[in-house]
Amino acid sequence: MRLPAVLLAICLIVAACTTEVEVSGIEPQDPVLVELGAELYSSNCAGCHGQDLRGTEQGPSHLSEVYEPAHHGDGAFLAAVSRGSPQHHWNFGPMPPVPGLSAEDVEAIVAFVREQQRLEGFEEYPPE
Ligand code: HEC
Repeated sequence: MRLPAVLLAICLIVAACTTEVEVSGIEPQDPVLVELGAELYSSNCAGCHGQDLRGTEQGPSHLSEVYEPAHHGDGAFLAAVSRGSPQHHWNFGPMPPVPGLSAEDVEAIVAFVREQQRLEGFEEYPPE
């Protein structure tokens, strides 16, 4: 009589674990933030980083594994937006500071970027 209960418990645990684990290790982001971030990204970042995040002739892809959360945490985004970034991973030149964005705006942009990284996965760095 107790076996079904044990099996049920195991199934529940396995189900709970498998739905939590994402391939990229990134948690799903707040959809409201993601939507706001998508708009802000499009008007402030996409000109160089690409609307699809895969980069342009003026800036690198944010889907490169160099921008994984472990390599470039959320703080790196705030720093890059407020202070700019010297050229160091690529050959596009430096990134200038992007004026007019609050810390909350950058938080939304990061949520958008993390959501795309979670859904699309990462490109190898350095690229082929
Ligand atoms: C004028 C072009 C340009 C714009 C606009 C731009 N970036 Fe960049 N960004 C770059 C370039 C070029 C680099 C790469 C620097 C390097 O590592 O060689 C970069 C790098 C970065 C980095 C990594 C910084 C680091 O610590 O290595 C982050 C994060 C970033 N950008 C976020 C953003 C966000 C968010 C926006 C919009 C708010 C944005 N960028 C807008 C050109 C741009």
